[in-house]
Amino acid sequence: MIRLGIDASDLERAAGWLREGRLVAIPTETVYGLAADAANPDAVRRVFAAKGRPADHPVIVHLPDAGSLDGWAADVPAAARRLAAAFWPGPLTLILKRGPRVDDVITGGQSTVGLRVPAHPIAQALLKRFGGALAAPSANRFGHVSPTTAAHVIDEFDDEVVAVLDGGACDVGLESTIVDLSGDAPRLLRPGMIAAADLEEVIGMPLAEAPENEGPRASGRLPSHYAPEAPLRLVAPEALDATVAEALETGSVAVLARRGPDALHDQCRWFRIADRAEDYARELYATLRRADARGPAVILVEAVPEGPDWQAIRDRLRRAAADRDD
Ligand code: TXA
Ligand code: MG
Repeated sequence: MIRLGIDASDLERAAGWLREGRLVAIPTETVYGLAADAANPDAVRRVFAAKGRPADHPVIVHLPDAGSLDGWAADVPAAARRLAAAFWPGPLTLILKRGPRVDDVITGGQSTVGLRVPAHPIAQALLKRFGGALAAPSANRFGHVSPTTAAHVIDEFDDEVVAVLDGGACDVGLESTIVDLSGDAPRLLRPGMIAAADLEEVIGMPLAEAPENEGPRASGRLPSHYAPEAPLRLVAPEALDATVAEALETGSVAVLARRGPDALHDQCRWFRIADRAEDYARELYATLRRADARGPAVILVEAVPEGPDWQAIRDRLRRAAADRDD
């Protein structure tokens, strides 16, 4: 995989490869995406193959601006227009009824499509230069932690991805908020760093939360998604020291906490992570990758606060911890 910079000639090479149907990883403000020409079904199929992702899990289509929705969405309700005006470009994905330009391979055969206008300046510049839409899931193998730097992408893939545009570390750090506007009532399918209350204010109605095992198939909704290799356990702050001590009796431990350790131990690697939600989100995936790197027997994560600012972080941590004890 070639690591490209971000000047005009790099963007032109990337756009040229995309036109040829090849895969290029791109920075977005949330996480890196593995991009393919959304109008080329063979190219999109290559994304599924590279990720090892089941064909029935739909991918998000990235557009340069809200004015490009036509053809990709069939029916754009007023609430979607309002959310687009308020939050695009930005970390929000809208699920809408699919338009005629959407191939089955993008939606996994579903009648809806996920659309997003990313804010990252490199994603924006590439979309404009490319001149079309880019289908892009997060640039990780299926079930792995999403990448927030170009180096993470390089760790995930070999030659099936021709290049990564290195746009630095992602600013948001967690995947976009997903709102489903294809049905009767708007639903929050995946919490992100745009607060649900801010979305509700814009659309003037409450957002229903999608029940766990229902609704459109979305791989981000599988319980064990976003998981590191080592088993991950969430531990209440007040139980952390005792749990670390107990885990050290049987093997090496990595700890993620919003404070430093009380005592040092050569089998324990302690990762201090920011205690503001926004900073925590930005650092989480890179920190999980570092914690996982030396193959600890377990990763213990100090549970994070309740409260709306932490909703998306709680969601990702819960999924990373799910189904890992067996
Ligand atoms: O921030 C993001 O959304 C990143 C960047 C690269 O844009 N992308 C991302 O893509 O997280 P991915 O494929 O890893 O996750 C997209 C989620 C999946 O859970 C997928 O199933 C869901 O969006 N999704 C896509 N189209 C959908 C649809 N029509 N209905 C329901 N869920 C959909
Ligand atoms: Mg993903």
